[in-house]
Amino acid sequence: MHTPIPSLKGRSLLTLQDLSDQEFAYLLELSARLKARKRAGVRGRLLERRNIALIFEKSSTRTRCAFIVAAADEGAQAEYLEIQDIHIGRKESVADTARVLGRMFDGIAFRGYRQDTVEQLARHAGVPVWNALTDEWHPTQILADLLTVQERFGQLAGLKLVYVGDGRNNVVNTLMIGCARTGMHMVNCAPPELAPRPALLEQAQALAAPHGGSVVVSHDPVAAVRGAHVVYTDVWVSMGEESRFEERLKLLRPYQVHGDLMRATGHMESGEVIFLHCLPAFHNDQTEATRTLGPLEVTEEVFESPYSKVFDQAENRVHTIKAVMVATLTEGIAG
Ligand code: CP
Ligand code: NVA
Repeated sequence: MHTPIPSLKGRSLLTLQDLSDQEFAYLLELSARLKARKRAGVRGRLLERRNIALIFEKSSTRTRCAFIVAAADEGAQAEYLEIQDIHIGRKESVADTARVLGRMFDGIAFRGYRQDTVEQLARHAGVPVWNALTDEWHPTQILADLLTVQERFGQLAGLKLVYVGDGRNNVVNTLMIGCARTGMHMVNCAPPELAPRPALLEQAQALAAPHGGSVVVSHDPVAAVRGAHVVYTDVWVSMGEESRFEERLKLLRPYQVHGDLMRATGHMESGEVIFLHCLPAFHNDQTEATRTLGPLEVTEEVFESPYSKVFDQAENRVHTIKAVMVATLTEGIAG
């Protein structure tokens, strides 16, 4: 018997730190149940008559579509609000926008630059607000990542996850917290110039210790990945940092995830390693940015390998986002 956790009803999700261990575990469990339900063809009505606003200041394929599909699957209606098309920040303050939308919608997802914007929305909306990515955090992504790891290995605690790349972006910041609170051994492997902020590292380490896990920093990819069950990377230049492209190429070339790096895990023979990437990924020359440069953070060999679980991870965005909406808008579902 699964017990819904009522404390999540009416709550926002702005960072993973907003959740207790029990709430975090519950969201993963609920995601798995909602996924099984969808696979079984159950037509959901858990969010019937709810209206969801999606305010997006930055581009998105997965997160935007995951909210729309998750809402539709459970009978809710999602409205995409491109930031240029509404008054927020220009003719109307964030607080006023929040108060207006909170009178019309049952929940609001926000993707944009400043964490402060999503926090202001949450303070004033009177309805749950979900962080769909800011410069600092990407909580719904990490729920999907950890669901993907759990599906593959049947557990999280004790597994080693090595993130290789830009060590201070929204994805890795959140991954440090997610791994810490699930008892994983996490290595943030980045050049010294892109190492995580000391305060965040300390916070993650303090969270990891009582869970029997660890969070450490490395600058040496080959040494870092030894024994890894999960190798994870993200783009070298996040949205909003485009002017740093050349500098990042120079710093991060030695941190590319390629076949030899995956072999250095020592887990290729046994099949005990997977590759993850939140996507979008620069793994070939098929994008505008990589037409002349070729693969950046991951090679085609790794991206297209059987151990690459990036599309399971992308699909899991729907199930985890659905769990977040169900848990924060309703009483949840009994197991
Ligand atoms: N991973 C992720 O957030 O993808 P989108 O930018 O496409 O939403
Ligand atoms: N770090 C990336 C994640 C994209 C999903 C970015 O912010 O652009």
